Amino acid sequence: MITSSCIPVQQCASYCSLFLEDKSCMSACEVVKHLEPFRLSLEKLKEVSTRLRKDMIRGLGKHTHHRAAVKMLPTFVRATPDGTEKGDFLALDLGGTNFRVLHVRVMEEEQKMVKMDSQLCAIPQEIMLGTGEQLFDHIAACLSEFLDSQNLKGQTLPMGFTFSFPCEQKEIDKSILIRWTKGFNCSGVEGEDVVKLLKEAIHRRGDYDISSVAMVNDTVGTMMSCGYRDQTCEIGMIIGTGTNACYMEEMKNVKRVEGEDGQMCINTEWGGFGDDGSLEDILTEFDKVVDRTSINPGVHTFEKMISGMYLGEIVRLVLMKLTEKKLLFKGEVSEALRTKETFETKFISMIEDGLENAKKILTELGLTWDLVDARVVRLVCETISSRSARLCAAALATIVDRIRANRGLPHLKTTVGVDGTVYKKHPNYSDELQKAMHFLAPDCKIKFLVSEDGSGKGAAMVTAVAQRLALQSRLLEESDGEEDEEEKVRS
Ligand code: BGC
Repeated sequence: MITSSCIPVQQCASYCSLFLEDKSCMSACEVVKHLEPFRLSLEKLKEVSTRLRKDMIRGLGKHTHHRAAVKMLPTFVRATPDGTEKGDFLALDLGGTNFRVLHVRVMEEEQKMVKMDSQLCAIPQEIMLGTGEQLFDHIAACLSEFLDSQNLKGQTLPMGFTFSFPCEQKEIDKSILIRWTKGFNCSGVEGEDVVKLLKEAIHRRGDYDISSVAMVNDTVGTMMSCGYRDQTCEIGMIIGTGTNACYMEEMKNVKRVEGEDGQMCINTEWGGFGDDGSLEDILTEFDKVVDRTSINPGVHTFEKMISGMYLGEIVRLVLMKLTEKKLLFKGEVSEALRTKETFETKFISMIEDGLENAKKILTELGLTWDLVDARVVRLVCETISSRSARLCAAALATIVDRIRANRGLPHLKTTVGVDGTVYKKHPNYSDELQKAMHFLAPDCKIKFLVSEDGSGKGAAMVTAVAQRLALQSRLLEESDGEEDEEEKVRS
């Protein structure tokens, strides 16, 4: 029965159909009321997008950058692939709980990048929270093992290093870590040049050497690897353990780097959006607990509402609250549900995929549930994942609209390279994001290209593009020289 005290009535009516007859509509409405703060209207999302637009301008500015929450870091990547790149490369990829080494071959004739081989090394928690020296020694040891297994120690292949943390890049091979995110907190690395730390660790071993290293963020790797398949790709986006995006910006707007011509890829580090309090009005009590109990309180506010490292924990906190209010599990909390981070983000995808999964997971979490409980849990998951997708859409809309305005176009057609487990594994995430994009960036037609192994292969592609540009400018210089000589001969 729907009563006038059910607020908001229409919403409650649609949710009531999710519940069983034997539960009163009042409790359904109570659940809906608790979830209300997560439901962001399109108007609110537009406001969020406008705030991000201003923050991006602040991040790009010479004098406003140091105070900006959205860092807008220059990457020194000045071109996307043109399809003529080729050669063999090594790629390193550090960004989550694993470190990977890859041997990649770029084949011009077939316009494809082939992973010749790769090796995965786990990064144990004690290394993630240990010293920088331990971390880089571990990476260097893993690389050594791979080179041995591939018989590559005698060769010095060009190397791309995907390092998925915010770095102030000085050059393509000089990159200072601003701060750790996503559960890493190794001492002695923040404020240091990561390429130098890697090289020092390799020299400490002394059993092999490396030549040039191109450092990239995973968003850049994703854009570049998708860019080889589709040359209109000029945005890279990650929605995985962390979240972030990069895009090609006009050099004249990149005030911190000299030069006005051409473009440069900017790593937005949008995860930091809101760190100056600008998202206070949309933060829920649950977001505040997630932040307070994280290893980096006050940092990466936007990321904590969106990415895989935190979504499961938000759901767990909401389920706890609903149980305390006797709206779930007859008011009985299990030990597992009471324990931090036991509700994994992958459970959200599984539960939204089917109620049978929900039942299995709830049983594994030691909860006594009925069908209504399972439906409420699914509703909580849908609410949290949909807020994540809509917030991401608001941020992406800001970027595409900026590219459109930069070029003075009424309409923009562009491609976004995407990677990350949340985007790839969740059953409705991409639909939800794309639906919101229609409203938030109506003048932009966007193609989403899911990246296959982009953060690994992309680093190789950055190196390949750098090589192509170097070769082209060498050829240009040589032909200039020849023209000079011809002039001399003629005169
Ligand atoms: C990091 C970014 C990275 C993103 C996705 C964030 O925590 O700050 O540099 O691109 O995670 O991996």
